Amino acid sequence: MKPVLVVGGGMITHDQILPALYKMQRNGEVGDITVCAQHAKTVQALAAAPGILKAFPGQSFTAYPEHYAGGPQPELYKAVISEMPERSVVIIALPDQLHFPATMEALRNNQHVICVKPLVLTARESIEIEREARERGLFVGVEYHKRFDDRSHKARQFYREGRLGEFKLGTAKLMEKWYYRDSNFQNWCTVENTDCFTYIGCHYVDLVHFITGLKPVAVSNYGIIDTYPNGKQGYLWCDTRVRWHNGAVLNVQTTLCYPNEGPGPNTQGLTMYCGGGTGAMLDHSDQYRGLSYSFSKKSDAPGATYFSQPSPDYFQYNDLGGPGLEPVGYGVRSVEYLVKAIYRVDAAGDVTARQALLAEIDDKGILATPANSRYNELVVEAGRLSILNGGREALIEYEPEPKVSLA
Ligand SMILES: NC(=O)c1ccc[n+]([C@@H]2O[C@H](COP(=O)([O-])OP(=O)(O)OC[C@H]3O[C@@H](n4cnc5c(N)ncnc54)[C@H](O)[C@@H]3O)[C@@H](O)[C@H]2O)c1
Repeated sequence: MKPVLVVGGGMITHDQILPALYKMQRNGEVGDITVCAQHAKTVQALAAAPGILKAFPGQSFTAYPEHYAGGPQPELYKAVISEMPERSVVIIALPDQLHFPATMEALRNNQHVICVKPLVLTARESIEIEREARERGLFVGVEYHKRFDDRSHKARQFYREGRLGEFKLGTAKLMEKWYYRDSNFQNWCTVENTDCFTYIGCHYVDLVHFITGLKPVAVSNYGIIDTYPNGKQGYLWCDTRVRWHNGAVLNVQTTLCYPNEGPGPNTQGLTMYCGGGTGAMLDHSDQYRGLSYSFSKKSDAPGATYFSQPSPDYFQYNDLGGPGLEPVGYGVRSVEYLVKAIYRVDAAGDVTARQALLAEIDDKGILATPANSRYNELVVEAGRLSILNGGREALIEYEPEPKVSLA
């Protein structure tokens, strides 16, 4: 079984990636797991996380840094990657702006890569990643887990059967809770690096493409700057207009503003109005999934509320009689599917055979890869250009070279 290295030990590793990997390890589907952060305290906290310990008794990972080294160790992951056997699984779960150097480092060490979204912040970087991976017959997949939500497949099927007509106007929102401002986000989700649209809005841009096959051609990203508790500044309120090649428009609003007392971990959803027949529409509430609870006491989890509308669909632990608990949901399915794609690519054989299978995976379009989801990088790049210019529209070109420019 392949060993797995997760680079980054923050929220997404705790909430989704490590539990999904532990599940696969318990099922004999992956080998040893290593997690590398830049502080020993990060991996120690992850190793001691009560929810994970309860779900996976007896399982553990190798942690780096092993000890407090007098400060952060931002380069340590490079040494750890170089120690991994070739064609292992390296999962990049770092802040957005570090995805590019870490992915390239893994590829140059002949490792397959899974990267959390957004893959990188420019089209040029995604082209470089694609070339490096393709030459070596290595897999790179982007973890867009909303693609593994069953409702996304339902919408994709209806749209591609023509039952939803043609997308014209849409709105999407994804508001994370206010308390995110107190987390490690305040150290990296700052004006010079990224913004709420780049961080979280890319999910809905990717989803509209996944459903419709349409490509974005322009982005206007207006951001309001707010101050974190540590004094750093971030674009914490974004209103973004994405135009598509058929003239359709998607408006995306993203923030770290959902009240701490709001029910559910966030508020999110997608509405699309479409032309054709007698008119068509799609309306997905991705936060309220029909469950409401009023608790007699709050849990200890951050953002816990008395009144709660949890989503059982992204991630939850089920008690199926043990050992431990079973993580289920589209967050788990997404990681499993990506890791299994790596096994398929590897089993294809020599570099030429692997390249052929990689091209097939690109064409199928179920997984987001550098080659088949470059529109995401272009939207992010255009979005950054726009937000840094007060929300002016930025245009996307695909030919002859992918690029963005102010309108
Ligand atoms: N809904 C989603 O798809 C979703 C949700 C959350 C995060 N993410 C993505 O996951 C990534 C990480 O987000 P997060 O929420 O886990 O953030 P986080 O701030 O909680 O964690 C980031 C981790 O990276 C570590 N790190 C930073 N520099 C490092 C280095 N040089 N070497 C090793 N470790 C280093 C930090 O110590 C921290 O543990 C981001 O790109 C984010 O966009 C996706």
